[in-house]
Amino acid sequence: MNRVFIIGVGLTKFGKHEQLSTRDLFFHASKKAIADAKIDINEIDGIYFGNLSSDRFEHQAHTAAINASNISFRHLPSTRIEDACASGGVAVAQAYLAIKSGLHDTVLVAGAEKMTNLSTPEVTDVLGTCADDIYELPHGITFPGLYALMARAHMHKYGTTREQMSMVAVKNHFNALKNPYAQFHKEITLEKAMNSIIVSDPLNLYDCSPITDGGAAIILTSEEKIKNLDVSPVEIVGVGQASDSISLANRKSLTSIEANKIAAKRAYNMAQITPKNIDIAEVHDCFTIAEIINIEDLGFFEEGKGGKAVEEGTTAIDGDLPINTDGGLKAKGHPIGATGVAQIIELVHQIRGTAENRQLNGIKYGLAQNMGGSGATSVVNILKEVD
Ligand code: COA
Repeated sequence: MNRVFIIGVGLTKFGKHEQLSTRDLFFHASKKAIADAKIDINEIDGIYFGNLSSDRFEHQAHTAAINASNISFRHLPSTRIEDACASGGVAVAQAYLAIKSGLHDTVLVAGAEKMTNLSTPEVTDVLGTCADDIYELPHGITFPGLYALMARAHMHKYGTTREQMSMVAVKNHFNALKNPYAQFHKEITLEKAMNSIIVSDPLNLYDCSPITDGGAAIILTSEEKIKNLDVSPVEIVGVGQASDSISLANRKSLTSIEANKIAAKRAYNMAQITPKNIDIAEVHDCFTIAEIINIEDLGFFEEGKGGKAVEEGTTAIDGDLPINTDGGLKAKGHPIGATGVAQIIELVHQIRGTAENRQLNGIKYGLAQNMGGSGATSVVNILKEVD
């Protein structure tokens, strides 16, 4: 079976791009990834595109074909993947399969989302389409509300504190200071994070990821192809995905996400490693409580101990298991379709030694966990340094 390698990465800055549409964000990120891979555009034989809702955000669907024809006139097969906030990570997993199966040799995977052209209530409405339209939305609940329920349950069951959630925000804002592509470059104190305006009790402004425009792209290729290239490749060694009921009411638990655990198990099995092998992880911190739950579900910490791990500094950039060294969704920003691809880009930089002033030493294995909605889709991709 083919082995699959990442040979190029490209990002746009995350934030507000008044003049750029999803097409532009896709184009700029993809051009950078192609240049980084040092390949000719004609070597690409397939495109996978992660995007939640350009139809609702910009009144434009059918974007996979638009993007393909903007980047090349060769009638490339181009597929849009929509799996809520996991769209980017799932696009990476699908591209991996396409190369693994021998269907394609070299694939462009990109994610992009343009969100800031709508008002916050309008964005909230679009994002709401990722929650359950029978059991949840008719009751008026939105994503901050759903994660607030999970936060309350975690606090009640394990004693997780508001301070620990705010510490996730402080850590990720600190990490984003060193990431020129991040939306926010402002260090925040614990006091500021704790006392910001309530969005959905117990979550406040600094517990939430922001509304963001951005694009991210990577180039994947087969073992055969890398032999002739002058790049430092990073291998994808584990891919796992799982789904669950999209409504919280129909889940087994409010304090953990079953799809995360199953996706992670599948990815660890494929990579033939355990959580102990992971040196760095990018996890889906759409809300601070999500980071705490995710690091437990991925097997890094016992259930109920995630908040303590953050408090003790274990997940800090200089801790034993750095989490979200690029600032995470919280401070780097969360342009939905781009997020899962951008997570992979941070891991590639850390593994190949190009993470500049946030570079860590000795990174062999990196894990990216990207999830949709309140966790009904979870995808875990594991990357490894090439020996
Ligand atoms: N974290 C930190 N600061 C934030 C922020 C966030 N998440 N969102 C906005 N800000 C800042 C802005 O930069 C701005 O600062 P300034 O006054 O210094 O310029 C200020 O807060 C007000 O920004 P504004 O855009 O008016 O905020 P808002 O009240 O309209 O929106 C949220 C804030 C939290 C409601 C919005 O970001 C949101 O809905 N986030 C969640 C997105 C989401 O659900 N994603 C999917 C997850 S599943």
